[in-house]
Amino acid sequence: MAYEGTQGPEVQRQLRACRSFCAETANRERESTLATGKKQPMVQFKGIMKKFGKVMAVEKMDFDIEEGSLVTLLGPSGCGKTTLLRMVAGLEQPTEGDIFIKGVRINDTPIHKRNLGMIFQNYALFPHKTIFDNVAFGLKYRNVSRDEIRQKVNRALEMVRLPGVENRMPSQLSGGQQQRIAMARAIVIEPDVLLMDEPLSALDENLREEMRREVDNLQQLLGVTTIFVTHDQREALSMSDQILVMKDGSKQQEGDPQTVYNEPVNHFVADFLGHSNFIRGEIVAVDALHVKIRIETGDVLLADNRGNFTVGDRVELVVRAQRFDLFPKEEFQAKEGMNSFEGRIKDRSYMGGEVSYFIELGVDREIHIISMMRTRIYDIGEKVSVQVAPHHCHLIAIEN
Ligand SMILES: Nc1ncnc2c1ncn2[C@@H]1O[C@H](COP(=O)(O)OP(=O)(O)OP(=O)(O)O)[C@@H](O)[C@H]1O
Ligand SMILES: [Mg+2]
Repeated sequence: MAYEGTQGPEVQRQLRACRSFCAETANRERESTLATGKKQPMVQFKGIMKKFGKVMAVEKMDFDIEEGSLVTLLGPSGCGKTTLLRMVAGLEQPTEGDIFIKGVRINDTPIHKRNLGMIFQNYALFPHKTIFDNVAFGLKYRNVSRDEIRQKVNRALEMVRLPGVENRMPSQLSGGQQQRIAMARAIVIEPDVLLMDEPLSALDENLREEMRREVDNLQQLLGVTTIFVTHDQREALSMSDQILVMKDGSKQQEGDPQTVYNEPVNHFVADFLGHSNFIRGEIVAVDALHVKIRIETGDVLLADNRGNFTVGDRVELVVRAQRFDLFPKEEFQAKEGMNSFEGRIKDRSYMGGEVSYFIELGVDREIHIISMMRTRIYDIGEKVSVQVAPHHCHLIAIEN
């Protein structure tokens, strides 16, 4: 809550609303912790699997989600993200396995008794209902008095920083505002878990960035456990406490954004998150600090020794495009303990603050470098030296 006291009345109101929301939910949490005697994951998947006929949408998967965290399901189209979310929501039955919320198995709990807030990409507002009725929708089926409904709706609108719009129709709000109303509708019921399936993908790039921060900020203020689905890696990296990377229905890696980005466990994860260069080679020496890898050009490169490879192993060296440093060839002096090569600029594209280069190293080998614009842009055909530190060279085992 860094900006308290420095912002306008709108934000102050948002903070007050969030605080009163948190006080109520904290009471409920305290009761549940007292009842069970220990803190458990908010959501647990145990051996969860889903088949549609012959299609394996989600392969047997175990996964825990901590209370209050924002977890992103990240992966390409068709990898099973929505299916996993729909199983939590109760819109799809698992073929095998169990899902627990607060330690209670919910496989057979009907949708309306799961206490979940949902925001889906195509889950539009009711066009013929006022904003008030849209937000109040989930409360009408609960035992809540009219006065309380009014109070809760007003508070939810303050939380999404849109107080005073309750009598408008959805068409009288912008796309971003409508998405904030969808958020208000999801949080007004004080859900145990908030489920969001690509909620920002219909928005244009600028608005998307703004809404990303909005969702992130609100999630942190409320501390509501959130499962967020996206296939946008930047979205996942910027918002998540934990990321679950999926491919073809199976879990590839789980971890916090930095771990998943800096220590990908396989080629798929390294390739899916960020711009990576893959260089194949064989380990020729190992000492306490470093591993030496002979690559296909015959050069020997150094990578930090993280203890998981031995001499003779075939590996792929992963280096992010942003990790290389570029120098004019005639000015470069190789440094002990660093990896360096010579190359020629083959192609380049100017992207404003940075430049993307494709650099020819030798026959059949090129690397991709994204370089911050410092002094000048290198010309196509120009000879350059490329340097990268061993700790930016990440090794993964070669898969069959
Ligand atoms: N009702 C269904 N009947 C049959 N197959 C389905 C059904 N729903 C999903 N599938 C299949 O299950 C797989 C996973 O689909 P899912 O919608 O979960 O993917 P996704 O990761 O959400 O993809 P996207 O990013 O495109 O939304 C796909 O192969 C899809 O075709
Ligand atoms: Mg989907």
